[in-house]
Amino acid sequence: MRVLVLGATGPVGISLCREILSSVQDPSLVLFVRSPQKIPNDLSTDSRVTVITGQLTDTESLAKAIEGVDAVCSALGPSVKKGPFHPVIDVMRMHGVKRTASIPAPEDKTDIKFAVLVTGISTFARNAYKDVVAIGEIISKQDDLDWIIVRVPLLSDKPNRDVVAGFIGDGKINTGLTRIGFAVFVVAQLNDNESIWIRKAPMICNP
Ligand SMILES: NC(=O)c1ccc[n+]([C@@H]2O[C@H](COP(=O)([O-])OP(=O)(O)OC[C@H]3O[C@@H](n4cnc5c(N)ncnc54)[C@H](OP(=O)(O)O)[C@@H]3O)[C@@H](O)[C@H]2O)c1
Repeated sequence: MRVLVLGATGPVGISLCREILSSVQDPSLVLFVRSPQKIPNDLSTDSRVTVITGQLTDTESLAKAIEGVDAVCSALGPSVKKGPFHPVIDVMRMHGVKRTASIPAPEDKTDIKFAVLVTGISTFARNAYKDVVAIGEIISKQDDLDWIIVRVPLLSDKPNRDVVAGFIGDGKINTGLTRIGFAVFVVAQLNDNESIWIRKAPMICNP
């Protein structure tokens, strides 16, 4: 499987790239990055990895990166005001790519822990919060793509690979997740054509 990874120079993206290479059948990766110097050596020297340098607004380079891929995974940070997914989605449609997973649900219920967390983020990281919400809204309108929005709580670098998925307030979901747990969940989705999470926005966490 050939996978385009966006945001591959952040800690989550790096963890995801390593997990794809070790746990997807016959993997090859295309990393579309703006800071190639941040890619760790084990990835940049791996013959299964192609690095393309460019900005997300450069649709020509993005189109080149997306050619022939089976899936697009994003671990992008929410720093682009109008949502960095506009060009990605248009280019995906042009090239017939169906699957995408991203970070930022009508199934959610009230949960005081998450209410506090979201209020804190929306207050102290206002623009980032608005970006994440905008990205979620854009992705969830794409009926012709097999998208999954993977929502995450507070991230850590602990080694726990166990993950549960659900919705806020369902009694299963808490506020902690390891970065490797995110990678394990996304790879499981790549390996499952019939995933129950397609066109849904689950929240995932360590049990
Ligand atoms: N830390 C937490 O507890 C937590 C909790 C919930 C959600 N998250 C989210 O999880 C995601 C991944 O986390 P992380 O720690 O790996 O994030 P990160 O260090 O912020 O990395 C984000 C990635 O996105 C890229 N990026 C950001 N803006 C871009 C732009 N305008 N154009 C192109 N590339 C851009 C960065 O590229 P460069 O390396 O070139 O900058 C990097 O590869 C982020 O969206 C973060 O907000 C984190």
